[in-house]
Amino acid sequence: MAEIGGDINRARQVLESGGLVAIPTETVYGLAGNALNGEVVSKIFEAKNRPSFDPLIVHVSSIEQARAFVEEIPSQAEALATKHWPGPLTILLKRKSIIPDLVTSGLDTVAIRVPAHELTQNLLSLLDFPLAAPSANPFGYVSPTTAEHVNQQLGDQLDYILDGGPCIVGIESTIVSFESATPRVLRLGGLSIEAIETVIGRVEINLHSSSKPDAPGMLKSHYAPNTQILLVEDFHLELIGDTSRIGALVFNEYIEGLDLENQFVLSKSGDMNEAARRLFTGLRALDQREDIDTIVTALVPNQGLGRAINDRIKRATAK
Ligand code: TXA
Ligand code: MG
Repeated sequence: MAEIGGDINRARQVLESGGLVAIPTETVYGLAGNALNGEVVSKIFEAKNRPSFDPLIVHVSSIEQARAFVEEIPSQAEALATKHWPGPLTILLKRKSIIPDLVTSGLDTVAIRVPAHELTQNLLSLLDFPLAAPSANPFGYVSPTTAEHVNQQLGDQLDYILDGGPCIVGIESTIVSFESATPRVLRLGGLSIEAIETVIGRVEINLHSSSKPDAPGMLKSHYAPNTQILLVEDFHLELIGDTSRIGALVFNEYIEGLDLENQFVLSKSGDMNEAARRLFTGLRALDQREDIDTIVTALVPNQGLGRAINDRIKRATAK
């Protein structure tokens, strides 16, 4: 288990000596290290057991700091970043060579984001390097939204966990590419399409689900619990037979005929932001129940953060 605390000076010390620190962000916890140090970056890949073809996001404290690592910021990217940084937005920009190849898996773009969390903001402003940080979960598993989630799975791989409380958005950042005339969203996330289009007009949504996609986090199966999980259109439990070992992840209403204790409601009031915030906690809670063998879930209304929730549910339930 790692040392956990809220001490940014301790986090700084570990990072400056080449160690790995879990950092809180508004989306999910990240597994962070010095993005400019290739050895540290390779430790990040190892700790997560992440394939080297899946590039990392570089976290900076401001758009000004971002300029040091990219060739240029196209005007639409600048408009979006100005409006939504700090926030759950990652933009892909042509990288400068100071960013190690390993960070971008050899691509000529680098993913950059300014996270909106006070502790991490303060930490970044103390450091004289940016932080490469994937989500702090073993590759392919559900992302962590509390320090405890991180400690349970990666505690042994980390030198320090900076505890900033539960993540308030709860779902990863939205990734936008500006390589073609119309911006392309490569990963749905904590910034809704509606919010993006309000600033820069129409965007294309181009989510991949192959084995070596443009944003490799878009692998067809990802964010998956260990317990078998099924995506259903309707909760016809009678088709399943014995329901005593079934758990359900539901949007706003309990399913009839299933023990309430076995059900995790994302938002009783049907609030999409609350549902996003609780999604990964719910998946983990059901996954950890030894008396549950199968989790059933259904899609939520496809609007606002509902699209990103549905994306995660589809990947969690993909074979
Ligand atoms: O909210 C988040 O984005 C969190 C927090 C910690 O910031 N981070 C996160 O990182 O979700 P990760 O590594 O789990 O997902 C990063 C995604 C991956 O799907 C990766 O393939 C994609 O970003 N990515 C990174 N660099 C890329 C690039 N140059 N081109 C295309 N996709 C890229
Ligand atoms: Mg991830």
